[in-house]
Amino acid sequence: VVIARASGTHARPAPSAPARGARAVAWHDLECGRYRADLPLWRELAERTRSGGRAGAILDVGAGTGRVALDLASAGHSVSALELDPTLLHALRRRAGGTSVQACAGDARTFQLRRRDFALCIVAMQTLQLFGGAAARKAFLGRARAHMRPGGLIACAIVTDLEPFDCAAGDPAPVPERERVQGVLYLSIPTRVSVHTRSLQIERERVLVPKGAGVGSERALRERSLVVLDRVSAAELEREGVAVGLAAEPARTVAATADHVGSTVVMLRA
Ligand SMILES: C[S@@+](CC[C@H](N)C(=O)[O-])C[C@H]1O[C@@H](n2cnc3c(N)ncnc32)[C@H](O)[C@@H]1O
Repeated sequence: VVIARASGTHARPAPSAPARGARAVAWHDLECGRYRADLPLWRELAERTRSGGRAGAILDVGAGTGRVALDLASAGHSVSALELDPTLLHALRRRAGGTSVQACAGDARTFQLRRRDFALCIVAMQTLQLFGGAAARKAFLGRARAHMRPGGLIACAIVTDLEPFDCAAGDPAPVPERERVQGVLYLSIPTRVSVHTRSLQIERERVLVPKGAGVGSERALRERSLVVLDRVSAAELEREGVAVGLAAEPARTVAATADHVGSTVVMLRA
C-alpha cells in the first residue's frame, strides 16, 4: 500500500524546491516505485500469454511511472500502459522511450484503446481501490472486458485488511522511506492507518529537505498525504466481474514484506 494523493500543504515551496511535477514524480517513485514483491507474479502471468512462441499484448492499468510495464518490457513483452495523471504519464513516456511500452492517457473507468486483443490486464498495487466505489469498478471491468481477447486474463491486486495505527496516539511509526533526488531529500513517514466501513485510509507526512538544509530546518517543507482506498473483498470483486460477463478463477496472493502489506490478486477471465 502506498500513498498517492497529497493534501494539506503546510508550507510554501522554498525557491530552491524542485518544481511541482518533479516532486510528484519523486514522491510516486519513492512510495510506489520500490515495490518488488508482486513482479514475479506479473512476469509469470505475462509468460503464460505466449502461444506459438508469441507473447500476447499486456495492458497495465494505472501504470504510474511504469514500475510494472517497464519490468515486463525488459523481459520482451509488449505493454500498453494506461495512466490518468498527466504528470506521471509524462515521466512514464520519457522512461519508456526505446522500449516496447506504449504510454496511453486515459481513465480506467472510461478508456477506449484501438487494441482489443489484450491477453493480460494487470491492475497492480490496489489501484482498483482508487477508482471510487462499486459503480466505478463495474465501469472499469466492462471497459477491460471489451479490450481483452477471448480467454484473456484480468488480474487485480487488492488489499482487504490493514492493521490500524496512529502515531498521534503514541503508536510507533513504521520506518520512513527516503531518497535523495538531485541533492534534495524526500522523506515519507507513515503516520496513521484507519479502517472505516467503506474505506481504508492511510496518512503520511511528506518532508522535503532542500539541498544544504537539515530535516529540522525551517526550509524543510512538510505536507500531509492521504490515500483513501475503497474496501472490497475478493468475493465481492469476483461477483462484480461475473456480473459483466467475466469468469472468476482462483485468486492468487502476493506475500507481505517487511515494508509492504500482502495482497490478494483476483483473477477474472474474459
Ligand atoms: C498505487 S499507484 C500504482 C502505480 C503502478 N501500477 C505500480 O504498481 O507501481 C496507482 C496509480 O493509478 C493511477 N490511477 C488512479 N485512478 C486511475 C484511473 N481512474 N484511471 C487510470 N489510472 C488511475 C494513479 O494516478 C497512480 O499512478
